[in-house]
Amino acid sequence: MVAARIDLPLPRVDLRPMAEGDLARVAALERESYPFPWSEGIFHDCLRVGYVCRVVELGFDLVGYGVMSTGAGEAHVLNLCVREAMRGRGIGRTLLRHLIELAVTAGAQDLFLEVRPSNLAAVRLYHSLGFVQVGVRRGYYQAVGGREDATALRLDLRDLGG
Ligand SMILES: CC(C)(COP(=O)(O)OP(=O)(O)OC[C@H]1O[C@@H](n2cnc3c(N)ncnc32)[C@H](O)[C@@H]1OP(=O)(O)O)[C@@H](O)C(=O)NCCC(=O)NCCS
Repeated sequence: MVAARIDLPLPRVDLRPMAEGDLARVAALERESYPFPWSEGIFHDCLRVGYVCRVVELGFDLVGYGVMSTGAGEAHVLNLCVREAMRGRGIGRTLLRHLIELAVTAGAQDLFLEVRPSNLAAVRLYHSLGFVQVGVRRGYYQAVGGREDATALRLDLRDLGG
């Protein structure tokens, strides 16, 4: 029998602030998603210092999260993640757009982030939303057998009201 792929429309997802009670699930999703994951303690610290931390829920399932710092007229996306089985349905774009709105609301004029050049899905997502390359951070990421450079990207928020 030939397997069939049926693309169903995505049910409505909810975005809300991350809470301490989410951290075990967030850290589990982080471990599933990255070869060098953040620890649960890092997420705890992000909440403690008041970073913008959001989770995406589909029903009772936590399917994504984002973390962003803001201050001094700029914002920095530090983490953006969608559960593998739920990728390619617009959740990452929705989450990042939400962070962009929050950055503008916080008065940021620029939004920065780093991405592995090898992470084609993320690179395409960022470029599609208007991020442009502003530099390369040499050896920024841990990688199997050494380090990997990061591409530094910037989105100018001034035109969006920042
Ligand atoms: C990057 C990530 C958050 C994208 O989330 P997502 O929900 O799959 O993204 P979306 O469905 O909203 O797709 C948005 C855009 O990303 C790009 N994209 C997504 N998946 C892609 C893929 N497999 N190949 C190429 N481009 C892809 C496309 O430009 C897409 O726009 P389009 O659908 O109009 O073509 C997700 O892949 C992820 O969690 N990866 C693991 C964690 C990670 O690497 N985070 C980024 C760290 S910098």
